Amino acid sequence: MTLKPSTSANNPLASNGLIRALIVLAATASIFLVLWFLGESQADPYIRATMGLEGSEETGKQLFRMNCAGCHGIDAQGLVGPALQNVSLHNSDSDLINQIVSGKTPPMPSFEMEPQAMADLLAHLHSLN
Ligand code: HEC
Repeated sequence: MTLKPSTSANNPLASNGLIRALIVLAATASIFLVLWFLGESQADPYIRATMGLEGSEETGKQLFRMNCAGCHGIDAQGLVGPALQNVSLHNSDSDLINQIVSGKTPPMPSFEMEPQAMADLLAHLHSLN
């Protein structure tokens, strides 16, 4: 009896190994994705501190007029920056905080403020709905 040499093309084990490697790769990638997501949304102590505070709409309105109205309009109707009416309906609070502190979308600058001031500003943004 002669044995045929096996090549990887007709060896089912070789393609099994490839599939297994792809599954391991996909699993690793999704673990990193979940860790990244958790890190972004929960581990930020500034966001957590802000969320734990009660904001004052009135103080928030004054902060808005001083810092934001130049670009977003005195009534948030939009100017250089987009209108912010209903902005809290399509953004989570942590999205809004990131937008305000990150400076990732020039010309909007990055703002630094105490968590209490941020909570006040958020209360004002919520009142624009
Ligand atoms: C120098 C002008 C400028 C100032 C000052 C400014 N912004 Fe903006 N803002 C922008 C621009 C421009 C965008 C659009 C950025 C983009 O998406 O490319 C924006 C986007 C935003 C968004 C996202 C809107 C959306 O529909 O998702 C929010 C929220 C926001 N600004 C809030 C604020 C707040 C609150 C302040 C004050 C603390 C502020 N901005 C000050 C120019 C400004």
